[in-house]
Amino acid sequence: TTPILRRLDDLRALRRDWMLKGETLGLVPTMGALHAGHLSLVEAAKSACDHVVVTIFVNPKQFNSPEDLANYPRTEHEDAEKLAPFGVDAIYVPDPDQIYPEGYATTVSLSGITEVMEGPNRPGHFEGVATVVAKLFLQSGADQAFFGEKDYQQLMVVRRMARDLDIPIEVIGCPTVREPSGLAMSSRNMRLSPAATETAGQLNPMMEAAADRLRAGEDYAPLEAEMRARLRDLGFSEIEYIDLRCAEDLATMTRLDRPARMLVAAWLDGVRLIDNIAV
Ligand code: PAJ
Repeated sequence: TTPILRRLDDLRALRRDWMLKGETLGLVPTMGALHAGHLSLVEAAKSACDHVVVTIFVNPKQFNSPEDLANYPRTEHEDAEKLAPFGVDAIYVPDPDQIYPEGYATTVSLSGITEVMEGPNRPGHFEGVATVVAKLFLQSGADQAFFGEKDYQQLMVVRRMARDLDIPIEVIGCPTVREPSGLAMSSRNMRLSPAATETAGQLNPMMEAAADRLRAGEDYAPLEAEMRARLRDLGFSEIEYIDLRCAEDLATMTRLDRPARMLVAAWLDGVRLIDNIAV
């Protein structure tokens, strides 16, 4: 079975051994409740690096609501079982004081790319993410870190943060793993009723169809209006955003004049769903 490390010193000791041998480390940060999306990151890390460490830490600083934090699934035993076949070197499950010791006072905050989409809808979220990910990068000294495109804005935030702070790590984005319907895998999908799961499965095909029409030369504004109407008809209660943005800097776009991303956040059956695709 895979060793579980709960203290930073133990992680550092492992890293030091590997470093002396000139071996590389790949890091896969997660909050646990692992599914096939997370496991695809582990696979990517295994094939790119000599060693792999998966981290599991439900980071209180990135949750906007105490209920969401309290309800977040904690399934360490099952997570370890799911990781066993991959033969990762260690699972780092830091005790809370290893991340936020008594008197902890430092926050990592980014301007610009955190001020759109998820940013205004989830105050403090990206500060929490950037802070914990900066710490995990520095604690592990990893050479590469693997993140899902599922959380596209998070991927951009983490990449920018590492560059801005000169943390010597390469941030690798990995494709979103989906259900056969196209629904992006997420631990939150478990909270959807069977009927809502079927409805949720229509989101991604709808986005792909709109992307095809964009590529064929249609304007974005009427397509967005059509998508909003369609989602309401399907029973989505609140649409936080449907945006077409530059794939690099997340600036809004009206015409398809450079690589773009279409990104959606909407509520269905009391569950907040997000998805994004390349256009
Ligand atoms: P978590 O939601 O557990 O996700 C961990 C990683 O798995 C993230 O990089 C996320 O983008 C990726 N992921 C989730 N669903 C995926 C899917 N369907 N396909 C591919 N990748 C997927 O994101 C976080 O945790 C936290 O914010 C974290 C970065 C760990 C910082 O606390």
